[in-house]
Amino acid sequence: PAVDNAPAIVVGSGYGGAVAALRLGQAGVRTLMIEMGQLWNTAGSDGKVFCSTAAPDKRSMWFKTRTEAPLASFLWLDVVNKDITPYPGVLDRVHYDNMSVYVGRGVGGGSLVNGGMAVTPLQSYFAEQFPTVDVNAMYGTYYPRARAMLGVNTVDPAWFESTEWYRFTRTSRKAAANAGLRTTFVPNVYDFGYMQQEAAGTATKSALAQEVIYGNNHGKKSLDKTYLAAALGTGNLTLHTLEKVRSISRAADGGWLLGVDRIDATGAVVETKQYRCTYLFLGGGSLGTSELLVRARDTGALPALDPSVGAGWSTNGNTMVGRANHIWDTTGANQATMPVMGIDDWANTANPVFAEIAPLPIGFETWVSLYLAITKNPQRASFTYDAASDGVKLGWTAAQSAVSVAMAKKLFDRINLANATIYRYDLFGSGSKVFADDFCYHPLGGCVLGRATDDWGRVKGYPRLYVTDGSLVPGNIGVNPFVTITALAERTMERVLAEDM
Ligand code: FDA
Repeated sequence: PAVDNAPAIVVGSGYGGAVAALRLGQAGVRTLMIEMGQLWNTAGSDGKVFCSTAAPDKRSMWFKTRTEAPLASFLWLDVVNKDITPYPGVLDRVHYDNMSVYVGRGVGGGSLVNGGMAVTPLQSYFAEQFPTVDVNAMYGTYYPRARAMLGVNTVDPAWFESTEWYRFTRTSRKAAANAGLRTTFVPNVYDFGYMQQEAAGTATKSALAQEVIYGNNHGKKSLDKTYLAAALGTGNLTLHTLEKVRSISRAADGGWLLGVDRIDATGAVVETKQYRCTYLFLGGGSLGTSELLVRARDTGALPALDPSVGAGWSTNGNTMVGRANHIWDTTGANQATMPVMGIDDWANTANPVFAEIAPLPIGFETWVSLYLAITKNPQRASFTYDAASDGVKLGWTAAQSAVSVAMAKKLFDRINLANATIYRYDLFGSGSKVFADDFCYHPLGGCVLGRATDDWGRVKGYPRLYVTDGSLVPGNIGVNPFVTITALAERTMERVLAEDM
């Protein structure tokens, strides 16, 4: 008889995967976690695990010959990006036809590279997006559980008002207030006590040393320090890195079979493996999980997967934009990389936007106010199988991005009008592009809760197959998504452990 490598396998080590691994481990279930990225715990020759945005090297990006930073240019000059050696670095930019998606690669997934903003959406908007989920249980139990485990904390308001490191945020707040707009503090998983020590010169700088999208060497409670550390602590979790799951199929006895490529630091496949398990949890993120399931359905490996697998995808309405402040409204040479405030105009039903006030930490005065806007863009797209590449295509169009841009523009036109300021035209490449309409940070959907799965993430048509990641969220959640992804995974794991295992 066939023998499982472990009773449970978890694919991917981001938020969804990490919650699954911890709760399985605590329940005494031996679990194997398979992650295509590296375990980021070993310092390079410079004594650091991660490189900074100011001096990117091969550790920055996932198999690229040149970095692909979100801000492509400054004063239209190609000064931001650097040539690098292809390597399994920590940040990937995945290119589809009309949209590029940033994702983290490594043990901890997106938590290694993100801005740490830990935002709980409005209860009413959550209910709108998840009509079949009990909001009282979410807001009473699963969100608080997720926030506690993730180490969510808030900046000390008095320090915020006085520190040079958040001058950029105060300047953007003033501009928003001049337009009658509300700003709100947002929590984060970066340890603000540590940040204050950085500012005081008593701790090694990380958020105050231009570290963020290529990883933080200190201060940030990424998943490897929280959920995954606890999961390993149960003694039931085994972690395999630099292994990419390529295929999922079902054995005659109902067990799960995974085809896996193990790669080396050059990206070469050095071994092709097969794993077997009884319970399979997919936490590859919106891109990873959608690709695995669309491929499995459309190659005939799992033909009973729901037609909605691959659908319901969007960018969370993301678009980035910069404004030029007046010469007297400085944003500061010193900027913390962790955002702590957003412009909250979500209640404006004619044009709902939540815009995080983002840093531009390049070490000199720029007078730029930068924002990552989350808009209530209703457009959705689907992943489809592409036999030629054995991969997926994403049906997102430029016209769909234009919807996000138009919504963000309404808000920032108001701010510019009230302040007599203009946009920056030099940040997103040579075409004088004002709004970044070709990349996003918040891929959501592709295996939407209650459509491709039941209301708890059990994949329709296949018992003992579960999705726990951002592919469950139907394209938009109105705020930065990882707290919601974590809370939904907590909800799924409680149910699955009680009823299925
Ligand atoms: P996630 O992407 O975290 O993890 C998936 C993991 O699975 C990855 O490690 C991947 O390598 C692995 N994987 C995928 N396919 C695989 C396969 N076939 N085999 C093996 N492994 C596989 N959100 C927020 O709430 N606040 C914020 O401030 C920010 N800021 C931000 C900045 C930047 C630069 C980015 C890129 C993203 C953010 N985000 C964010 C978004 C947030 O990071 C994102 O929503 C979550 O990481 C998604 O969590 P998941 O568990 O869905 O997947």
